[in-house]
Amino acid sequence: MNLHFTEEQQMMRRMVRDFAESEIAPYIEKMEEGEFPRDILKKMGELGLMGIPIPEEYGGSGMDFTSYIIAIHELSRVSAAIGVILSVHTSVGTNPILYFGTEEQKKKYVPKLAKGEYLGAFCLTEPSAGSDAASLKTKAVKQGDYYKLNGSKVFITNGGEADTYIVFARTGDEKGSKGISAFVVEKDTPGFIIGKDEKKMGLHGSRTVQITFEDALVPAENLIGEEGQGFKIAMANLDAGRIGIAAQSLGIAEAALEHAIFYSKERRQFGKPIAANQGIGFKLADMATQVEAAKLLTYQAAYLRDNGQPCGKEASMAKLFASQTAMNVATEAIQVYGGYGYTKDYPVERFFRDAKICQIYEGTSEIQRIVISKHLLK
Ligand code: CAA
Repeated sequence: MNLHFTEEQQMMRRMVRDFAESEIAPYIEKMEEGEFPRDILKKMGELGLMGIPIPEEYGGSGMDFTSYIIAIHELSRVSAAIGVILSVHTSVGTNPILYFGTEEQKKKYVPKLAKGEYLGAFCLTEPSAGSDAASLKTKAVKQGDYYKLNGSKVFITNGGEADTYIVFARTGDEKGSKGISAFVVEKDTPGFIIGKDEKKMGLHGSRTVQITFEDALVPAENLIGEEGQGFKIAMANLDAGRIGIAAQSLGIAEAALEHAIFYSKERRQFGKPIAANQGIGFKLADMATQVEAAKLLTYQAAYLRDNGQPCGKEASMAKLFASQTAMNVATEAIQVYGGYGYTKDYPVERFFRDAKICQIYEGTSEIQRIVISKHLLK
C-alpha cells in the first residue's frame, strides 16, 4: 500500500478544505436549523465535487476513488451532513447506474448526477427490512413497458431533495436475496410519494424521509442490470459506500480532536492550561492514535479499490473502526470541554450527535462484523 498522496490528491485536499472552511462553515447554523444546503451543493457541482470519481466521458471529474474519499473526509471535518449527502449521492446514488446500467441509462442520468444538476438517493431499507436487507417487500410487477411498484422505504438520505432514486424491489417469487431487482426512479414518477421527514438527533441539514410507492409506474427501460441482480448491485455498491462513511467518520473524529487540542491549551484551571495535566494529555494521545489508525484503514480500503483489488472486508473494517473512533473521540472531546462541551456554544456537541449515526447507517457495526467474519471464514 502506498501512503504517499499524489500532487493531484493533495490539491484536492487543499481545495476542499478551503471550500469547506470558507463556504460551508458559515452555513452550519442554517443547516442546524434544518435548512437543506442547496446553494452549497450547487457550488460543489461547479467545482466538480459531485462527480469526482466519475469518468469525464460521463460528465465527471475523472479522478481516482482516493480523491473522492479525501473530499468526503475534508467536507466532514466541517460538516458531516454535507459529507453524507455527497457520499450517498455518489457511491450508492450514481455508481449503480455507472457500473450496472445500460449505455442509454448512463448517458441519460450519469452526466446530470456527476455535474450536480441532479441529486441521487438510494432506497433499500424498509420498515421491516433494515439490517436484513434481503427481506425487503416492495414489489415490482411488469406490465407491458412498465413495472408497477408498491411498497414503502424508510430512512432515505437525500430523499425529497433528490431527482433520481436507486430503488430495490422484488420482481420474482423467490425469497431472500434472489428475486430482487434495481431500478432508477425519477422523482416526478406518478405514485412516488415523499412521506415523513425524520427529525434526527444529528446530521441536521441532511434530509431523511420515508417514501411510498403506490402503483408507481416505472419504465421497463429503467431496470438496472437484469431482473434478480438487485441484491448484488446493492451490496457491491455498499462496499464502496462504506469507505465513504469511514471517511465521514474520520472527518468528524479529526475535527473533534483538533478542537479538544485547541481548547485544552486555552482553558486554564488551577493556574495552568488543562493540557498540562497528564489526565488530559493521555486522553489526547489516545484520541490521536485512534484517529491515525482510522485514517490508515480508510485510505487502505480506498487504495485497494483504486487498484482494482477486493476491498469488501477492508471497507467494513474501516467503517467499523472509524465510526467507533468518531464516537469515542467526540465523547472525549466533550469531556475535555467540560460543561461548555455540553452546550451548543461549541461544536463538539454537534460532532457527538453526528458521530452516532455512522455506527448505524450503511450497515450497523454489528453488520460490519458479520461481513468481516464471513470474509475471514470463507
Ligand atoms: N458484493 C457482491 N455480492 C454480494 C456481496 C458483495 N459485497 N455481499 C453479498 N453478495 C451476494 C452473495 O454472494 C450472495 O450471492 P449468491 O446467493 O449468488 O451466493 C447474495 O449476495 C446473498 O449474500 P448473503 O447470503 O451474504 O446475504 P444475507 O442476506 O446474509 O445479507 C448482509 C448479508 C451483509 C447482512 C446484508 O444484508 C447487509 O449488508 N445488510 C445491511 C444493510 C445495509 O447496509 N443497509 C444500508 C442502507 S443504505 C444507507 O444506509 C445509506 C445512507 O442513508 C447513508
